[in-house]
Amino acid sequence: MIKTWNPQSWRNRTALQQPTWLDSGALEQTLKMLGDQPPLVFAGEARDLTEKLAAAARGEAFLLQAGDCAESFESSADSIRDRLKVILQMAVVLTYAGGMPVVKVGRIAGQFAKPRSSDTETQGEIELPSFRGHIVNDVGFSESERRAEPNRLLMAYNRAAATLNLVRAFTRGGFADLTRVHQWNQEYVADSPQGAKYEALAGEIDRSLQFMQACGIDLSRESSLNEVEFYTSHEALILDYEEALTRQDSLTGDWYDCSAHMLWIGERTRQLDGAHIEFLRGVKNPLGCKIGPTATVEDVVGICEALNPDKVEGRVTLITRMGADKIRDNLPPLLEAVKATGHPVVWVSDPMHGNTYTAADGHKTRHFDSIVDELAGFFESHEKAGTIAGGIHLELTGDAVTECLGGGDDLVDDDLARAYETMCDPRLNGRQGLDVAFRVAEIISQRSNSAAS
Ligand code: TRP
Ligand code: MN
Repeated sequence: MIKTWNPQSWRNRTALQQPTWLDSGALEQTLKMLGDQPPLVFAGEARDLTEKLAAAARGEAFLLQAGDCAESFESSADSIRDRLKVILQMAVVLTYAGGMPVVKVGRIAGQFAKPRSSDTETQGEIELPSFRGHIVNDVGFSESERRAEPNRLLMAYNRAAATLNLVRAFTRGGFADLTRVHQWNQEYVADSPQGAKYEALAGEIDRSLQFMQACGIDLSRESSLNEVEFYTSHEALILDYEEALTRQDSLTGDWYDCSAHMLWIGERTRQLDGAHIEFLRGVKNPLGCKIGPTATVEDVVGICEALNPDKVEGRVTLITRMGADKIRDNLPPLLEAVKATGHPVVWVSDPMHGNTYTAADGHKTRHFDSIVDELAGFFESHEKAGTIAGGIHLELTGDAVTECLGGGDDLVDDDLARAYETMCDPRLNGRQGLDVAFRVAEIISQRSNSAAS
């Protein structure tokens, strides 16, 4: 029996990870203002993304979902542009290797909320609320910075709108034109072995384009070559915010959460009887759900049934984050079980969150080798289960940070302090991100070669 859904029905369930807003009057007022704002994305765009994800579920496309762990209200236009550049570079590498479309989805223009393992943080004698992302409070360790400010919900909306505007301009205004494939190789990345490898590949693409031009194709008129469809996504954590941006589509009468094209449910808030599943099951956007190492077959099948009772292809993306040492044991049974139910799923690997640990000097980090190992285990598990590895989900930045260890520069513990800038989890820098794309490209090109022979 399906109980009736409405944008508020989640309020009858337990909502984990919600901030304690002290000023309920201010909260009400902010939510009312948010409810009057125009949508950030449109229902038709979300439907297009669902179709593209359906192709990924069938193995006819590959999902690249990437961006910051926690976006900052202060990140500059340059930093947003550089993140886009790395994602475009990675998309080129994967498109070329896989010979199939890459669906590009950013953790961007709304990734402002963070679930935390503890409600408070203690430093010395002082205990304050944990940092929950810029949509809630600030990262500094003082009482005023850590106070949950309802006004931040409105700031998040404005910040998301400004970021999305930039993303739309970059992806539609000529910046993403394939004839500029060399220009996405920003100095810091170009100046590395991965950058050189990328240059070689970009040279091949150049020659193909010249060939097409010589054949009489006017490249400047081919929007498929000079634009990309770039979609937004974030963890739908703060349900007050998501509800306030939910609108009924005039064309179909369906509800859409217009804060982003795709929303996902975190590992900590995916309870079948919880508020997050209740809210998201009623909106028509494509949905993701993180699946950690403790997830059971019943959990995973239950999630598919709750979010996608009609088994619509492209509706559900399951993002597994097991850890390199667990994925080969824990993932195959889940793949088999979901396959047996006939639920269509885009299986995606998040090789970041299961491989986080604290280095000796206290920095949270991840090693490049574990990330690549989890990805390899992901592809192996799908091979074994006869299911489709549909994409990857990464935390990265275009900036020259030193937050994850290893990679081409072989960063070691002592490097962490040099450029550790993240507000939350350690991200791949531009070089490491591109390197991951090349590693995955190797795996998927081998796969398509063996399928062809
Ligand atoms: N529009 C195509 C796509 O999005 C080709 C393309 C144009 C492209 N610019 C790109 C691909 C930049 C990757 C990166 O796939
Ligand atoms: Mn994270």
